[in-house]
Amino acid sequence: MADRLDGTVALITGASSGIGEATAVELAALGASVALAARRADRLVALAAKIRGQGGTALVLATDVTSQQQASEAVERTVSELGRLDTLVNNAGAMLLGPVVGAPLAEWQRMVELNLLGLLYCAHAAVPHLLSAAAEDPRHVADMVNISSVAGRVVRNGSAVYNATKHGVGAFSESLRQEVARQHIRVSLVEPGATATELASHNRPEIQGQIRQRFGSTQRLHAADIAEAIGFVVTRPRRVAVNEMLVRPTEQEA
Ligand SMILES: NC(=O)c1ccc[n+]([C@@H]2O[C@H](COP(=O)([O-])OP(=O)(O)OC[C@H]3O[C@@H](n4cnc5c(N)ncnc54)[C@H](OP(=O)(O)O)[C@@H]3O)[C@@H](O)[C@H]2O)c1
Repeated sequence: MADRLDGTVALITGASSGIGEATAVELAALGASVALAARRADRLVALAAKIRGQGGTALVLATDVTSQQQASEAVERTVSELGRLDTLVNNAGAMLLGPVVGAPLAEWQRMVELNLLGLLYCAHAAVPHLLSAAAEDPRHVADMVNISSVAGRVVRNGSAVYNATKHGVGAFSESLRQEVARQHIRVSLVEPGATATELASHNRPEIQGQIRQRFGSTQRLHAADIAEAIGFVVTRPRRVAVNEMLVRPTEQEA
């Protein structure tokens, strides 16, 4: 039977849209108090109001996780204002596709700084608090869920640096999992396939055209489908760790 998350606190990065927003709603419905981190504070304020309207507790943290200081402050404010940290969902990310030849270096820098360094900063700040939570009631287990992608498993022409960042997330997650497994922190990797969010809209127009061509006829996942998968991962009994979960749309072949 699934455990609920009553009495626990979850921090979700990239909570202002897409998968992060849906995950905040899901974890709040499961009983967690949620801390919402992203740069667009207006979106977070609206989401917090929605969660409070449904009887939940939500904290707004206007945060750019590519700043080590802001990432660390988001974790520390979660603990000081909500009392603890049981679950970190490292979700903030960008997918900027296209060939290596002639690629704008700023796109690569953005993905490395956000998908890798931002995730690492949040993980570094959170682990001590996850260790404390894992030693305490109500669950005696804590969770870090890192959001990778099918691109963390399958390499494609035109996706080199996104592939590199998401493979990096997978490698980091598995190493950290081994490091903290005995202390009952579960480090899990969730790998979505094509999901209807804002993600692709940040690409250059010609790249957006190529993405549409590739996925145009595929029925995409809803953000809530991935949020449910994350909810499943973090509500397993203490003895069960879902290390990795690959969730594609039924129609997605590769
Ligand atoms: N959609 C898909 O098909 C798909 C597939 C596989 C994996 N994923 C992964 O799922 C995760 C979520 O993506 P999504 O699809 O939900 O896309 P999305 O709607 O574009 O969400 C991305 C989130 O990241 C936040 N973010 C961006 N830069 C940030 C920064 N510097 N600091 C803090 N937050 C930042 C954004 O908020 P602000 O702009 O407000 O900061 C937004 O909330 C990503 O890691 C992505 O790689 C998505």
